[in-house]
Amino acid sequence: MTREPSLTLQEFVDEAAISALSRPALADARGLPARVYTSEGFFALEQQRLFPRTWTGVAFDSDLPEPGDAIPTSVAGVPIIILRDAAGTVRAFHNVCRHRATIVLTEPCRGLRQLQCPYHAWTYGLDGALVATPFWDGTAKAEKQPVDVEANGLVPVRTEVWNHVIFVNLSENAEALEDYLGPMAAECSHLDMEALECGHRASWEFKANWKLVMDNWEVYHHVWVHEGIFDRMSDEVDLETGEPYTDMVADGNVMVLRANDRRPERKPDAGRDGSVLPPLPTRNGAGQKHGAANAVLPNTTLTMGPSAYVPAIYVPVAPGVTRAEMAWYFAPGAGKGAKHAEARDAAIDRWLGPRRTLSDRQGIRAQDHRCMELQQAARASPVADDVKFSPVWEADVRYFQTWLVDRLR
Ligand code: FES
Repeated sequence: MTREPSLTLQEFVDEAAISALSRPALADARGLPARVYTSEGFFALEQQRLFPRTWTGVAFDSDLPEPGDAIPTSVAGVPIIILRDAAGTVRAFHNVCRHRATIVLTEPCRGLRQLQCPYHAWTYGLDGALVATPFWDGTAKAEKQPVDVEANGLVPVRTEVWNHVIFVNLSENAEALEDYLGPMAAECSHLDMEALECGHRASWEFKANWKLVMDNWEVYHHVWVHEGIFDRMSDEVDLETGEPYTDMVADGNVMVLRANDRRPERKPDAGRDGSVLPPLPTRNGAGQKHGAANAVLPNTTLTMGPSAYVPAIYVPVAPGVTRAEMAWYFAPGAGKGAKHAEARDAAIDRWLGPRRTLSDRQGIRAQDHRCMELQQAARASPVADDVKFSPVWEADVRYFQTWLVDRLR
């Protein structure tokens, strides 16, 4: 959360651009200008006015499997500690010592019993309480002129865990996460999410603005980008009528792309040995829905397949650099061990490619991020201000851009 002088949306997006984005017919509308993807100033505006006021994904609960596990992170440039306390609850605190404002936790740690500042050893419990200020007043236990421990604990940050994603919100006045999620709160309720096991974790950077992830929340690109995964347009749309086989829902802070019943069923990913993963467990005998790709704005996505749940968090690093954090969750017993290793690898390869790199352009996410890098590079051109939306497929893209403008006004 930069404390530089306040920036305004109007410095980057004028009323004409907002009016063009809002034209009633989607095909007539125009997308946000290129500078919102490339400008250091617009990036700073987002850091000032967007990310401090939204529920932002920062990590996965499986990153902190045991009490005492802790990781340093940040939101909008504000340093934060995420930890699991002695009772197993995930908590978040500002990562700032209350003595002279030093970073307390400098690297991920496992099994901590306390947090100790590296400067003068002020020590905090996992609940944030200040428990020691050695030699503050010259005495070992600082009993002559004690520090007011009640007033000097680590400052908490609002945090909630939902479907294995740890969200934080820097605003003390923000709505509850459940309200922020709106219709998304029910979207995964048919699944027994608690039972899932994390089977893989990946983290990497790509050279594109974070917003291009949410601009990609459409299936129009599937057959052109995801060769070997989505190969036939007849799987995406009724070739006679032009009706897509995807229901597109955008409401409040969420966007959902849900395959409808007309979409041909996809064969499950099979390992090289022909094995397949067990389906994700459902609650109370509820039927398994078709897969869905869910986005919680601004930076979190949750993709549900028949046998894998793949949440992702996108961290803005710079106008043209984003860090992706992804995790793969599977049915109980399928996340670890040799029995499902081949099928599990196939499910991960589907996203990252067999070599698990972006450069080989294999796997859904490697392919997506390659296109995002091409979009970012194009935005150096003045021609890139003229961005159009398909009237059938890209309502979500305009929805996200409108949501962004509304949040930054
Ligand atoms: S700044 Fe942390 S103990 Fe001094």
